[in-house]
Amino acid sequence: RTDTTLADIAAAPDGEALEALRVAALGKKGWVSALLKTLGGMTPEQRQSEGPKIQAVRAAVADAIAARKAAIDAAELDARLANETLDLTLPAPETPRGSVHPVSQVMDELAEIFADLGFAVKTGPEIEDDWHNFTALNMAESHPARAMHDTFYFPDTDAEGRKMLLRTHTSPVQIRSMMAEGAPIRIIAPGRVYRSDSDATHTPMFHQIEGLVIDRDIHLGHLKWTLETFLKAFFETDDIVLRLRPSYFPFTEPSVEVDVGFAVNDAGKRTLGGSGDAPGHGWMELLGSGMVNRRVIEFAGLDADKYQGFAFGVGVDRLAMLKYGMDDLRAFFDGDNRWLAHYGFNP
Ligand code: PHE
Repeated sequence: RTDTTLADIAAAPDGEALEALRVAALGKKGWVSALLKTLGGMTPEQRQSEGPKIQAVRAAVADAIAARKAAIDAAELDARLANETLDLTLPAPETPRGSVHPVSQVMDELAEIFADLGFAVKTGPEIEDDWHNFTALNMAESHPARAMHDTFYFPDTDAEGRKMLLRTHTSPVQIRSMMAEGAPIRIIAPGRVYRSDSDATHTPMFHQIEGLVIDRDIHLGHLKWTLETFLKAFFETDDIVLRLRPSYFPFTEPSVEVDVGFAVNDAGKRTLGGSGDAPGHGWMELLGSGMVNRRVIEFAGLDADKYQGFAFGVGVDRLAMLKYGMDDLRAFFDGDNRWLAHYGFNP
């Protein structure tokens, strides 16, 4: 019986067959177990002569099972490895990846540039009330400048009876920051703004970055230096020539519109650099700015005799178009990956 069992074990095709053989031999009711039980009824002499033989049978069967089990496991592993071959030389399937949008990219760059100049980043609500968006910026209810903003008003007032709107510029963040933090203050405020306007160069939603510095003894020279420094860093060239042009905003006095000189290349494209007055050059309007009107400083609850400063507001989309040579503003908001890829924004 030992020989046939050992032969069966050696020929067991799989783990299941082997287990059946183990139960038949070594299980509680197995024949080897039964042999072991006969030892109990033997005389000491019989036990001494039979015991080792029976133990030898048990050991031989157990060893054979262990050996066969190892062989079966190894064969199963081999078979599995053979089935699961991976060809590491095959090209991986391409998963489409998103990318940073040019507007976000520009906002990040500006935050970094202004951080180096000691400006903190502030944000304000896009759903704004009439007081922060207009009145506190020296545009009373009847002020004609309000008409220039093509404002999206909400039909109803809020719970406190305030007239609500989608902010038309980031300037209300000037008011909110001064009221929350007092002076001195040095902030930029990037974000979305809204005006009811739409063509190739205007979208109903666009992006601005507001800058505000309030301290003692701040003057127009600080404004000019700050704008020059930021534009040189942003466009990565020292060849930036600015022209400050007198202008009008209710919230700044004096107000200056800032133009930047450009040249026209052979392909008819504008490239920044040089004075706009040079032959073949021109001036491009870039941003609005000025010394903060003392009435605005007072609206925000600060002492205008003690503190003064400058503010500017610049279109982020505009900056992105200039930096990356994009020519249709509407494409910014189409979400077309081919457009992004064309300008190097999709890896
Ligand atoms: N808020 C102005 C606009 O949207 C820009 C501006 C900001 C001008 C700060 C002066 C000072 O047109």
